[in-house]
Amino acid sequence: MNNNKPIGIFDSGIGGTSIWKAIHHLLPQEKTIYLADSKNAPYGQKSKEEIIALCMKNTDLLLQMDCKLIVVACNTATTNAIKELRANYAVPFIGIEPAIKPAALNSKTQKIGILATQGTLISELFNKTAEKFQTTKILEQVGHGLVQLIEKGQINSPEMTALLESYLRPMIEADIDYLVLGCSHYPYLIPQIKKILPDHIHIIDSGEAVARQTQNLLKNGVGFTDLTNNKPVFYTNTNPTVLKEILEGDYEVEVIEKDF
Ligand code: DGL
Repeated sequence: MNNNKPIGIFDSGIGGTSIWKAIHHLLPQEKTIYLADSKNAPYGQKSKEEIIALCMKNTDLLLQMDCKLIVVACNTATTNAIKELRANYAVPFIGIEPAIKPAALNSKTQKIGILATQGTLISELFNKTAEKFQTTKILEQVGHGLVQLIEKGQINSPEMTALLESYLRPMIEADIDYLVLGCSHYPYLIPQIKKILPDHIHIIDSGEAVARQTQNLLKNGVGFTDLTNNKPVFYTNTNPTVLKEILEGDYEVEVIEKDF
C-alpha cells in the first residue's frame, strides 16, 4: 500500500543531515522533513530527562506535519530517549547507535576506538551494547567541543585539527584498527580525520545502515510514496547559514524563530 506522508528526521542540529543525505540518496522520491534543533545543541552534555523532553518536542512538531515515520538522526537522542519515544508515540521510530558490532567483529587487533558525545558514552543503551563485545578493547573518547565547532561551520579550523589530534593520537598509539563515529555530526570530519589516521584504520559511520533500515520499514508496512515531485524541507531554529552550506544544494530551509 502506498503512503504519501513525509518521513520526519531530527537531530540536535545540522549533523543529522549526514543521515538525511544517506536516506535521500537511497529513497530520493520520498518526501523528507528535517528538523535541526540547533538552538538546543549540543544535546551531549544534557541530562537524560532534558534530552527526552527535547526529543518529545521535536516529535510533536514532526507529527503535526503528519510524518509517517521518524528517524532520530542523533546518537545522543537515540541512546537516551528512544525507549521513551517508542513508549509514548504510536509512530514508528528508527534510531542510530554507534556501530560497535561491525567494528568489533572485523577488528584484527581486537581494539576499536569510539568517538561520541558524553551523553552517548554514559548511556545505558550504549553500555549494554558494549558489554556484548567483551573480547574487544573499546577505547572511548568524548568529542568535547566538536559539535559546537561544526555548528559554527568551523570544520576545517586549526582548533578542530588540534582537538581531533588530541582525541585520535592515543587511539592510534593503542593500535586500534577501527574508529567508530558515534555522533551524526562527525561524518563531516572524515576528510580531517583521514589526514590524522594511518591508512589501515577503518572509519565506520551509520548513515547507510539507517537508510537501509528506513527502506525496510517502508517496505514492510509503512509504505512508499507514489508521488514523484517531493522536495525535502528543512527547519531550523537558529541562523540557517551553516545548515545551507552543509546541504550543498538548493534546498528549502525555513527558520522557526521560537523554540520548536
Ligand atoms: N548529532 C548528535 C549525535 O549524534 C549530537 C550531539 C550533540 O548535540 O551533542 O549524538
